[in-house]
Amino acid sequence: MSNTIKKIAVFTSGGDSPGMNAAIRSVVRACAFHQIECVGIYRGYEGMIEGDFKAMNARSVKGIINKGGTILKSARSKAFRTTEGRKKAHDALVKEGVDAFVVIGGDGSFTGAMIFSQEYGMPVMGIPGTIDNDIYGTTHTLGYDTALNTVVDAIDKIRDTASSHNRLFFVEVMGRDVGHIALNVGVGAGAEEILIPEEDLGLERLLESLRRSKQSGKSSSIVVVAEGDKIGKNVFQLKDYVEENMTEYEVRVSVLGHMQRGGSPSCFDRVLASRMGVKAVESLLSGENNCMVGLKNDLMTLTPLDQAVKGKSKINMELLRVSDIMTV
Ligand code: F6P
Repeated sequence: MSNTIKKIAVFTSGGDSPGMNAAIRSVVRACAFHQIECVGIYRGYEGMIEGDFKAMNARSVKGIINKGGTILKSARSKAFRTTEGRKKAHDALVKEGVDAFVVIGGDGSFTGAMIFSQEYGMPVMGIPGTIDNDIYGTTHTLGYDTALNTVVDAIDKIRDTASSHNRLFFVEVMGRDVGHIALNVGVGAGAEEILIPEEDLGLERLLESLRRSKQSGKSSSIVVVAEGDKIGKNVFQLKDYVEENMTEYEVRVSVLGHMQRGGSPSCFDRVLASRMGVKAVESLLSGENNCMVGLKNDLMTLTPLDQAVKGKSKINMELLRVSDIMTV
C-alpha cells in the first residue's frame, strides 16, 4: 500500500440515499485500520469550498450503520462547477492536508471529481450512492435495494385500499432517467402495468391493457409509473385520460416522492456500503485513481469515472416480459 497518502477526505454529494452513512463509516474505519487520517466534509462540494471539515476517527462513526440520510449532509453545488469554486476547494483541501478524497454520490458528483482530479492531480475515488441505480459500472448503487423494499411496502398498502374500493391507482415512483425502481417494484408488487422511460407503451396500449385486465375479472389495478416515463402525460393527466376513456374505473393517484429516499438501509445496502468503503480506501492506497468502485458478479470492481459517467445503466428487459406474463 502507498505511503504517499496520509489523509483521506470523505463526503456525500447530490441526492441522498440509504446506506450513505454505512459507507462513511466504512471509509473512516478503513482509514483507521490502515493508520491513515480521515476527515469528513460537510455538505459535499459546498462544504469543501468553505473548508467545512471535521476530523473523523473510528468512534466518530459509531451507531450510524442503520441510519438513513447522511450525517455529513449533502448538497448540489453550483460554485464547484466554476474554475474559481474548484480553486477555493483545492486551497481548502491543501490547507487541511488532504491527499485524496472519496466522493459518495451520483454521476454529477463524479463529473465534478473527475474535472477536479484532472485540474489538480488529486487522487479521487467514487462510491455510487443513489436510489435510482442509474450508474454504469455497478449492478447496484447504494440505497437502491432499500428503496425497492420501501416502495414495494408502500404499494402493498395502496393495493389494500385499491381493492376495497375497486379503484385503479397510478403510483409514481422515482427514476428520472431509468426505470429500475418502477420495473422491479412493478413485478415485486404485482402491478398490472409498468411505465418506464426506456419503453413508451403509448396511451392506446395502456387503455387496451386496462380493458383486458377489467375483462379478466380484476376489480382493482395498480399502474406503476417512473417519474421519467415518456408516455407524454404526467400521472395526474393519465388519471384524467383514463377516467375520460374508461368511465367504469374510479382512478386515484399516489406520488410516493422523497419518502423513497429515506429510512434505515437494508442489510444488502449495509453490506454493500461496507465493502465499497473498504475497496475505495484500499484502491487509493494502492495507487488507483479516478475510478468508481462497483459490484459486478458479487465482486468489488473499479470502473474509470469517465466510463461510469458516460455509460448507460441498462434495465433488465426480461422483467418486462415476466410482468406481461404475470398480468395475464
Ligand atoms: O436521487 C435521485 C432522485 O431520487 C431522482 O429520481 C429524482 O428525480 C431526484 O432525486 C429528486 O431529487 P431532489 O428533490 O433532491 O432534487
